[in-house]
Amino acid sequence: MLDSSGEALTKRGYRAIKRLAPIKETLAAALVYLSKWRADEVLLDAMCGTGTIAIEAAMIARNIAPGANRNFAAEKWSVIDEKLWTDIRDEAFSNEDLSKDLKIYASDIDEKSIEVAKENAEKAGVEEDIIFEVKDFKDIESPAKYGAVIVNPPYGERLMNDEDIEELYKDFGNFCRKKLAKWSYYIITSYEDFEKAFGKVATKNRKLYNGGIKCYYYQYFGDRKNGYRN
Ligand SMILES: C[S@@+](CC[C@H](N)C(=O)[O-])C[C@H]1O[C@@H](n2cnc3c(N)ncnc32)[C@H](O)[C@@H]1O
Repeated sequence: MLDSSGEALTKRGYRAIKRLAPIKETLAAALVYLSKWRADEVLLDAMCGTGTIAIEAAMIARNIAPGANRNFAAEKWSVIDEKLWTDIRDEAFSNEDLSKDLKIYASDIDEKSIEVAKENAEKAGVEEDIIFEVKDFKDIESPAKYGAVIVNPPYGERLMNDEDIEELYKDFGNFCRKKLAKWSYYIITSYEDFEKAFGKVATKNRKLYNGGIKCYYYQYFGDRKNGYRN
């Protein structure tokens, strides 16, 4: 058996410091793709932790190769010409799209998480693309009429009891309906009674595993500009 990757492929190389319950980079990217968010639309992660969802969204929008910031075990193999690695990296860099003006917002109530998120974004080369803020989601004012909010909130597995988690989801539901009335909402959680607490049945949901925990990705479709379809 030969392992050409080395470090797991979920690791993009931009995340040095971990905080509580970060989502895997690959799952964060999947959440962005499933939301069908497009680079000219507004994106908000209102419980961003270390910023993974926002960073992956910015990398997707800029067409930054997921492996651009990491090494692969096969780079040390003498059977592969070193020049191939340089060429393929040059090709990936030349395909990056630096022209777009992105509107990605990421906030969290925890100051330390935002510090780490900013460092991660810098390592990923997308720090200019994301507006980070320390903020309780309840205090966020909507940055636009339409947009997509994607969140990976606490699930209550270890850190919060059911009552607190229900309160949090209820507050988040009220926040979405009041401040982001026309937006689309995307929430991943393992909490079985999420829709009841949030106060609305999702347009669609999808089973996903987050580090072995069975979750559902609840999708609420809103209006979109430019006639984009959900
Ligand atoms: C599961 S973590 C998110 C992890 C993140 N996806 C990452 O990759 O690091 C949930 C986050 O929700 C944040 N949070 C909890 N209550 C909040 C609130 N009322 N407003 C904003 N953020 C909140 C926590 O501080 C925590 O960082």
